[in-house]
Parts: sequence; C-alpha cells; structure tokens
Amino acid sequence: MIHVENLTKRYAGKTAIDRVTFDVGRGEIVGFLGPNGAGKSTTLKILTCYLSATAGSAKIAGHDIFTDSVRARQHIGYMPENVPLYTDMRVAEYLNFRARLKGLRGRDATLGAEEAMETTGLSGVSSKMIASLSKGYRQRVGLADALVNKPDLLILDEPTNGLDPNQIRQVRELIKQLGDRHTILISTHILSEVEVTCGRVIIINHGHIKASDTPQNLIRRLGAAGKTVIEVKTAPNLVLEELEKMPGVESASHVMSRGDWTVVEIATEPNIDLREALHELMIDRKWPLRELTRRTASLEDAFVGLTKSLDEERAESH
Ligand SMILES: Nc1ncnc2c1ncn2[C@@H]1O[C@H](COP(=O)(O)OP(=O)(O)O)[C@@H](O)[C@H]1O
Ligand SMILES: [Mg+2]
Repeated sequence: MIHVENLTKRYAGKTAIDRVTFDVGRGEIVGFLGPNGAGKSTTLKILTCYLSATAGSAKIAGHDIFTDSVRARQHIGYMPENVPLYTDMRVAEYLNFRARLKGLRGRDATLGAEEAMETTGLSGVSSKMIASLSKGYRQRVGLADALVNKPDLLILDEPTNGLDPNQIRQVRELIKQLGDRHTILISTHILSEVEVTCGRVIIINHGHIKASDTPQNLIRRLGAAGKTVIEVKTAPNLVLEELEKMPGVESASHVMSRGDWTVVEIATEPNIDLREALHELMIDRKWPLRELTRRTASLEDAFVGLTKSLDEERAESH
C-alpha cells in the first residue's frame, strides 16, 4: 500500500529526513514513532503530496506520488498535525465542502459527509458551528474530513495530540474500528497507544529509520531489561549482597526502608524471571517477604533505551 525508498528532505541546509525507506502492507495498522523533531510530519507531508522531497521515491497503491499524485491522493485520507478547520462553518457544511474539494459531486458529497459523520460519532452535532465544538470533537471533524472520499489508506499525524485522557481513549477506539476497513499509518509519541493499536511500529530518530517490527519483537530485540521489586524484612546490605551474587541480576538497588522492611529494585537481564529464585532465597535465609512484583519491559522502555543510546552515540561522535 505504501512503498517508500530513500526519501530525503533538506530544509535550507538542514536534513530533516535522510534516506527513509519502509513499506506498509494493505490492511496493516502501523505506528510511526519518534521524538519531537525526528521527521515524522515531514515524511507524512511528503507521502500525502503536501511537500516535495529532495530525493528518493514513494508509491501509494502503486501510484508514484511525484509523477501521478492525483491518483495517489485518491487513495489517501490525511489528518494533518494541526487540523486546519474553518471554524465559522457548520460540521456537515464543512465536510460537504471538503468532499467537493476532493472531487465528489452532488449526492456523492452529501453521502460521503454523512457516512464520515456517522463513523466518527458526529451525526448529533452536524448542524453545530465548528467554533463551538470541544477539542475532542474538532479532532473528530479532522478524522471525518480524512474519511469523506472513502480512501483505503489513512495517514494520521498525532491524532490524539492535545486531547485529555478520556478523549484519547475515544479517538483510540475509533482508530481501532477504522482499522477493520482501512490501512492506517499513524504517527504519535504516545507509546502505550501504539502498544494496543498497532500491529507494527516504525521508529524514526534524527531523520533515520531505526527499527520496524511488532511492538513485542521490538521490546525483545532491544533487550529492554525487566524489573523486579521485593520488600523483605532484613537489612539492606544483607539482601543486596545476596542479590548481587544471583545469576540473571544486572543490578540491585535499595529504594527505601519502611521500619524493618527493605524495598529493593532488581534490574534483570532481558527475558529473565527471577521470582522463583527470589522465593527460594527468602525461604533459605528465613527472611519474611511481603512484596514480589515483576514488571516486564514496555515499548516505552525499549523506545527510551533505543533513542537514548543513539543520542549518546551522536554525542560521542561529535
Ligand atoms: N518548514 C521547515 N523549515 C525548516 N526546518 C523544518 C521545517 N519543518 C520541519 N523542520 C525541521 O525538520 C525536522 C523534522 O521535523 P518534523 O518532521 O516536524 O518532526 P516531527 O513531526 O517528528 O516532530 C526538525 O528538526 C524540524 O525543526
Ligand atoms: Mg510532527
């Protein structure tokens, strides 16, 4: 559905993206992740034909975006980073207008707008002025706009940006539903969002693609360490001394003491579960234990690990 090869964009001497290459298959929901300034919006603007590239090529549904942009665009519903809305228009009126701009005529435009409002839960506010809508509803108007011409590919640039947690959940649910019928490329820096919505993740940092894999594989491959927390009734130095000898332990640190109790956080090697060994140690030493919790690494740990080590690499090479 999307085929990108060596896409490069320079702004006045500054390289925003550098030889970006990736594919998105039909039906996939792919998260496009990266810190602020990584080059996400630049890539998406080029794919949606709003920005030219300095070098490289890209195809949408087989159509070259530079030589055949009209047909490429017919496949795309794009929701830009800051949805530009005409706030002095009514919702239905605006979506009709947008549908006609995208080439739909008469009844087709009306139907396209109606269907988009239904999908995004806007039917109840169709005759309201956009200016009177909450941020969450305006974001839905942006999504409805992307849907009016019934595209098979949705490109969404930080669709939950600036929303409160309830609105984020609603938009996330909506995107999940849309995934049944559309291929979706969605940029975000909210990692928990990606973990539940996306089948695959592409990570970009400083304009370079760093990884492309399922969230689970990324966590595993990046070797983000897990953590285990114990609360044990003994002196900190005694328990730390034992833990440092234990295979699979990377480090153990004293978090706090509560009376006679000691809380210790243990960083483990990737994919190591220490719980049974810890239990046996406590039995052996006759140390009462009142907490034993294992937290597996999240995509966030993997992401932080990846982008941080890259920044350190850069710092060293300068
Ligand atoms: N119009 C522009 N002119 C000059 N530099 C720009 C312009 N737009 C973006 N950039 C730069 O390109 C880089 C990538 O930006 P962007 O694609 O917006 O990143 P992201 O969406 O991942 O936050 C940043 O360093 C940004 O400052
Ligand atoms: Mg951006």
